[in-house]
Amino acid sequence: MRRSILVGTGSALPKRAVSNAELAESLDLETSDEWIVERTGITNRYIAGDDETTASLATIAACEALEAAGMAASDIDLIVLATATPDQTFPATATVVQQNLGCNGGIAFDVAAVCSGFLYALGVADSMLRSGMANRALVIGAETFSRILDWEDRTTCVLFGDGAGAIVLEAREVSDGPDERGILATRLHADGAHNQLLFVDGGPSTTGTVGKLRMKGREVFRHAVFNLAQVLREVLEDTGLQVSDIDWLVPHQANARILDATAKKLALPAEKVIMTVAQHANTSAASVPLALSVAVRDGRIQQGDLVMLEAMGGGFTWGASLIRM
Ligand code: UT7
Repeated sequence: MRRSILVGTGSALPKRAVSNAELAESLDLETSDEWIVERTGITNRYIAGDDETTASLATIAACEALEAAGMAASDIDLIVLATATPDQTFPATATVVQQNLGCNGGIAFDVAAVCSGFLYALGVADSMLRSGMANRALVIGAETFSRILDWEDRTTCVLFGDGAGAIVLEAREVSDGPDERGILATRLHADGAHNQLLFVDGGPSTTGTVGKLRMKGREVFRHAVFNLAQVLREVLEDTGLQVSDIDWLVPHQANARILDATAKKLALPAEKVIMTVAQHANTSAASVPLALSVAVRDGRIQQGDLVMLEAMGGGFTWGASLIRM
């Protein structure tokens, strides 16, 4: 059977790191390092400078993933980029990355599913690779959420950061079964009934402005834990595998408390959960590939490991994917 094999990971962060204390002081917000750490686990985030954009971060992450895969940009015939903060309304940021890499001519487009964007991009790229429409894909999550934050709203602006993560997928013929490398199963969901709990209050077709992020955090939290535990179980059912088979959970990094609660609900030991939220904060579509890349590079995630990815975000959208590395 034809499967998408994960052959390289990469990531990129803006140059400027901003601690909780620095953020609180510089913005004159009624917040504190203690509140942010206790409620979210976040201690730091990276903020893009004027010379850094979603496309520039995505390009750096893509180059790193290509290098890890031992591939040249010219080997890539599909780029799927997940973002809610594109460089421009159009063209797709994926085409800017394609031009930066110099691999023009293949397929390139963006996917908009906010914090679940990387899971959606992965699902789409995997389907296209398995169908034979493409052979080698760059799947990227990249964001500059700092550009859509209301810096006077302490309930949201302390939570997010900028960054990018990328993976290279290659279609290969393998035999069936969960021990063979590749993406084993992906499940995606959306429920538009909740789109007023997490949204941006602007857009080209409505206000004609970019808008700012708005979130009812407490309600999102409640839905996140429920939806994530459910979709993880669905993916396991699809593959006939158990929670105990999972070597690593790489979750969307929104809040350390959501990660703890989801792991507890599944009875998954905390030491199997990759956590980067403390350093990166919530980087939306970038968070899962960024965390994955960190754990591959520091040697925790090894070839042959069973890795579960999951995310939940605006829409609501949510999803999970199980990969044999
Ligand atoms: O990535 C997409 C998905 N997003 C998420 O998954 C985010 C989900 N939600 C969360 O992570 C949490 O709900 C938050 C971190 C956003 C908030 O934590 P919480 O424990 O749910 O706090 P809360 O919203 O219930 O607020 C508690 C109090 C409030 O004050 P009162 O009403 O109790 O007087 C807030 O006004 O904390 C106050 N507060 C703050 N205080 C200091 C809210 N933000 C801040 C702040 N500093 N930055």
